[in-house]
Amino acid sequence: MYKTKFEGFVVAVSVGFLLFGIIVVVFFMSWVKLVINHVRSDVTGRIPSFRMVGEAPVIPTIRVYIFNVTNADEFLNNGSKPIVEELGPYVYTERWEKKNITFNDNGTVSFNQEKLYFFDESQSVGTEDDVVVVPNIPMLSATSQSKHAARFLRLAMASIMDILKIKPFVEVSVGQLLWGYEDPLLKLAKDVVPKEQKLPYEEFGLMYNKNGTSHDRLTIFTGASDITKYGLIDRWNGKSNLSHYTTDECNSFEASDGSIFPPHMTKNTTIHIFDKDLCRRLPLVFEKEVVGSDDIPGYRFTPPKDVFASVDENPDNMCFCPQGPPCAPSGFFNVSLCQYDSPILLSFPHFYLANDSYRTALEGISPADPEKHRFYIDVQPIMGTAMSAKARVQINLAVSQVVDIKQVATFPDIVFPILWFEEGLNSLPKEMTSLMGLANTVPPIARAGLSGVLFALGAILLVVAIWRLVRGGQQVEFLASSTRSRQSSQQDERVSHEQRA
Ligand SMILES: *[C@@H]1O[C@H](CO)[C@@H](O)[C@H](O)[C@H]1NC(C)=O
Ligand SMILES: *[C@@H]1O[C@H](CO)[C@@H](O)[C@H](O)[C@H]1NC(C)=O
Ligand SMILES: *[C@@H]1O[C@H](CO)[C@@H](O)[C@H](O)[C@H]1NC(C)=O
Ligand SMILES: *[C@@H]1O[C@H](CO)[C@@H](O)[C@H](O)[C@H]1NC(C)=O
Ligand SMILES: *[C@@H]1O[C@H](CO)[C@@H](O)[C@H](O)[C@H]1NC(C)=O
Ligand SMILES: *[C@@H]1O[C@H](CO)[C@@H](O)[C@H](O)[C@H]1NC(C)=O
Ligand SMILES: *[C@@H]1O[C@H](CO)[C@@H](O)[C@H](O)[C@H]1NC(C)=O
Ligand SMILES: *[C@@H]1O[C@H](CO)[C@@H](O)[C@H](O)[C@H]1NC(C)=O
Ligand SMILES: *[C@@H]1O[C@H](CO)[C@@H](O)[C@H](O)[C@H]1NC(C)=O
Repeated sequence: MYKTKFEGFVVAVSVGFLLFGIIVVVFFMSWVKLVINHVRSDVTGRIPSFRMVGEAPVIPTIRVYIFNVTNADEFLNNGSKPIVEELGPYVYTERWEKKNITFNDNGTVSFNQEKLYFFDESQSVGTEDDVVVVPNIPMLSATSQSKHAARFLRLAMASIMDILKIKPFVEVSVGQLLWGYEDPLLKLAKDVVPKEQKLPYEEFGLMYNKNGTSHDRLTIFTGASDITKYGLIDRWNGKSNLSHYTTDECNSFEASDGSIFPPHMTKNTTIHIFDKDLCRRLPLVFEKEVVGSDDIPGYRFTPPKDVFASVDENPDNMCFCPQGPPCAPSGFFNVSLCQYDSPILLSFPHFYLANDSYRTALEGISPADPEKHRFYIDVQPIMGTAMSAKARVQINLAVSQVVDIKQVATFPDIVFPILWFEEGLNSLPKEMTSLMGLANTVPPIARAGLSGVLFALGAILLVVAIWRLVRGGQQVEFLASSTRSRQSSQQDERVSHEQRA
């Protein structure tokens, strides 16, 4: 009796080990998930460790490629195809920091994003002083917009432009084109136009006023209350959605700023990035598995091919065309509502995903190469951190021919590319990659190790217990037969057994 009790105990313990091993195999990853969630929301939830959100965990750079027009006069006077030369890259390293950080009670944090740009001559081909010839965006915006206005307004515009000597192409330095130059038309508009329609600046530059702390107040989720919203935008200047478009889905900016995402992504996850200048949130879907620096595996997300498709090809895009049809052609996104009604169309570089006729309307633009011109972001799916990214966008001006304005009478309807840029996140600081390496490799190893030990212990104990039970059983049989033959008492047997043992 006493003996089988002991063996039963051993069996119970070994079965316990085996069960625990199974539990580890099945649930270990969920425990890791809980720990990661805790660590992540803890990191954003306290000011001293706000670093991961305070400063971007990655070093961003922006590489700008400018289309220099080399035959502006022949294009205007002889009607020849415009010839452009792609210059660059002009490289700026960026420093991002979140300023004026306030933690709110509801699991969100508000801040103003500071971005500083530093020209990196060593990586650039050319300097900020290079002189380029590009379409005069303020002028061509004004003339294109006047297309449907009264004729006398267009004639008035023509004489003003005559007096101010405004030409359809400007010769500016790269630094001026990006960071601003004084534009006579904007200066005039500032003095003349009624206050409420006024443009806020008298300088024009494609990145004018971007070097510094943004006036936009961003509120994002810290994940403390709901980890599935970690890093997503809650409010932008107090607003919870855009109002340009026709549906809630298209007006939503529930999206990331591009550096951090909700953890635990699958291949089915659609991630979203919001940027003010993109004028919408951009969806990205899983494309393939990649291996980043330090052998960290990640997922590559890229915009779906029909993201900027015309409404005929992708009826979901109808919501982005509130005043259409006609709507933007396939491969373009109309951001004029976010750009003071300038006819700016965004596309991917070299008109990737657009009809090739836009590219061949000019000379000097090579065919789009997905490797060089597509937009993608690699993330570590468990942590939801961006490992590397290439956000590539081309800025185009959709010019409409206006024959009444003599300066631009010969400027045909054309989608004129100005420049394209690649905002990249390249290298992660070492401590981030090692943390991500740990998140990737340690949990599976720990799980395998722990469950292996538990299974081994359980199995050994079980074998021992069974062996002893079997041996004990033989003894019981033997004892039983000897009792029958020798007619001895059980007490004697136990004594003899104990002596043998
Ligand atoms: C851009 O093109 C113009 C001619 O249109 C030329 O004078 C100028 O040198 C070019 N800029 C660069 C940086 O090559
Ligand atoms: C443009 O026109 C002028 C004068 O008519 C002519 O000399 C020149 O060769 C033309 N250029 C081109 C590129 O056709
Ligand atoms: C910081 O945020 C507070 C609250 O939103 C605001 O009143 C203040 O003006 C901000 N300060 C700066 C320097 O942006
Ligand atoms: C959280 O609190 C902030 C500040 O009080 C507020 O602006 C924001 O709308 C709130 N967000 C949610 C989801 O309630
Ligand atoms: C951006 O601002 C910083 C600090 O004010 C300055 O050092 C830097 O030169 C500026 N960058 C550009 C491109 O103007
Ligand atoms: C979007 O914003 C407008 C006003 O800013 C508001 O009336 C509307 O309810 C919002 N829609 C959603 C889905 O939040
Ligand atoms: C992804 O979606 C497909 C089809 O919709 C489904 O079969 C699959 O189970 C999903 N995978 C995950 C991880 O959710
Ligand atoms: C872009 O949008 C504006 C405003 O919605 C519209 O007036 C314009 O016609 C659009 N341009 C194109 C090329 O679709
Ligand atoms: C591209 O545009 C041309 C002319 O506008 C048209 O004939 C052609 O069918 C288009 N190609 C595609 C693939 O849409």
